[in-house]
Amino acid sequence: MKTLHDLDPKDKRVLVRVDFNVPMDKNREITDDTRIKAALPTIEYLAERCAKVIIMSHRGRPKGQRVDDLRLDKVAARLASLTKFPVSDVHDCIGPDVEAAVSSMEPGEILLLENTRFHHGEEMNDAEFTKQIAKLGDAFVSDAFGAVHRAHATTAGLADFLPAYAGLLLEREIEVLSSILKAPKKPVVLIMGGAKIYTKIGILKNFIDKGDAFLIGGGLANTFLYAAGYNVGESLYESAKRDIACEIMLEAEKDMDQFILPTDVVVASQASETAETLTIPVSDLEGDMKIFDIGKETITRFCDIIARAGTVIWNGPVGLYEMAPFSEGTRRIAEAVADCEGTTIIGGGDTIDAINKFGIAPERFTHISTGGGAMLELLEGKKLPGIEVLSR
Ligand code: 3PG
Repeated sequence: MKTLHDLDPKDKRVLVRVDFNVPMDKNREITDDTRIKAALPTIEYLAERCAKVIIMSHRGRPKGQRVDDLRLDKVAARLASLTKFPVSDVHDCIGPDVEAAVSSMEPGEILLLENTRFHHGEEMNDAEFTKQIAKLGDAFVSDAFGAVHRAHATTAGLADFLPAYAGLLLEREIEVLSSILKAPKKPVVLIMGGAKIYTKIGILKNFIDKGDAFLIGGGLANTFLYAAGYNVGESLYESAKRDIACEIMLEAEKDMDQFILPTDVVVASQASETAETLTIPVSDLEGDMKIFDIGKETITRFCDIIARAGTVIWNGPVGLYEMAPFSEGTRRIAEAVADCEGTTIIGGGDTIDAINKFGIAPERFTHISTGGGAMLELLEGKKLPGIEVLSR
């Protein structure tokens, strides 16, 4: 794979694909700029070496339509506040106006193109659309780790038209996550939470022979508890995933791994900041109770296992951390992972949001991945299209 060190960027127009899919509140204010900061080293490396840096990103899923809320203007403003290099933006990512903006760029300047997913050609990896973008640049740098599991025009297609290189963020993500796949320090502990089981099936299966303990929380745990025969009341769970959940638990058992579901949980009848909560054993759930967090006994058990881990991989909060009555489980797990002396890898938008909310310094983790789905798919052992094109 070619990296930035193989590129002489001086006076070149370098198209850099980043993942600026950042969350915004209802006033369109950015609520977490982790991904913008993570892309800065590559952007500044190129600008310092007198490249004309043309940045491409998607935001949200506009499905080929121009959606005002998903414009990148606010991202351009935040980027400008984080770097000393001049930043401007344009209202599209292809067409005569964009070409004119690129041709008036000076070396060391940065231009952010508009959301690439405003065109159908992006997600379809359409050759005509890709060519339109390719003519804006002399080289293609891929630094959008969060989007390399997508075979889109600007994450993969551009490598057919331009010399392609991995950016610094992408290089580091691949290096750290591949080393975890090849030779993780034992014992290996996976903490999996969040709502949906389907995004986690692959990684759970791939780690049956590498993992030593699986700590399951969040909505994901409800599905496993249901599959194990518990009454989960009116909690969120996926009844259609019962068989796959049973299969994973049986495989983990065969391999003598610890597959640990919550033994006690925090329940309430509704998700609210003022909800009355109860902590009860999982076997006592009934009626309209809903599980919103793991209980104290489970927290202690999870934290003991995390403290002795050689490697921790964490994706997905173990409770409804956004609301104070249900945040304790995720906060205590986050602190335990931050205190762990082994290698600690965390990923997924909500997990990162949670550690930011709890004020835990990012330096206390070995690696915070900017990829949610991409991190999970890489750790599943899958080949990711945006990485494959760089290795050709
Ligand atoms: C993410 O937020 O995980 C990436 O930006 C990918 O977004 P997508 O799932 O809409 O492709």
